[in-house]
Amino acid sequence: MEILRHIVVFVHLTGFALLFGAWAAQAWGGKRQITGLMYVGLVIAAVAGLALAAPWGIEYDLNYAKIGVKLVVLLIIGALMGIGQARGRRNGSVPPPLFWSIGVLTLLNAGIAVIWR
Ligand code: HEM
Repeated sequence: MEILRHIVVFVHLTGFALLFGAWAAQAWGGKRQITGLMYVGLVIAAVAGLALAAPWGIEYDLNYAKIGVKLVVLLIIGALMGIGQARGRRNGSVPPPLFWSIGVLTLLNAGIAVIWR
């Protein structure tokens, strides 16, 4: 069970890497658009994160306040991506505050994950 949980953590981190990597590629040298790969990363991180939110394969208590905050931040990231993509289609570019918030909030969630114990 423990090894399976570690594999799901690995999948969760892969989702984070895809989301942040796709965003970073757009931020530096890209067109600063919302891409399909960002959604792939978001969905992988969300599904694996929800699986990890249940207490299996561990002997310690989960920090549900932290998990709740991470879920809210992830939903905000998803909403910003949806709004940013719609605005990008309409106006040709994603409003910079929307675009940059997606990367900052993704990093914030990774920071919350590793710093808040
Ligand atoms: C963009 C969104 C997210 C990012 C960047 C992210 C990032 C991370 C990172 C870097 C870790 C590893 C921390 C460590 O092992 O010390 C982690 C673990 C974890 N994440 Fe997330 N996460 C995100 C969304 C979520 C969501 C939505 C949930 C649940 C609703 C969640 C639940 C968890 C749990 C429970 C762990 C601990 C796994 C364990 O140690 O057993 N995450 N996350």
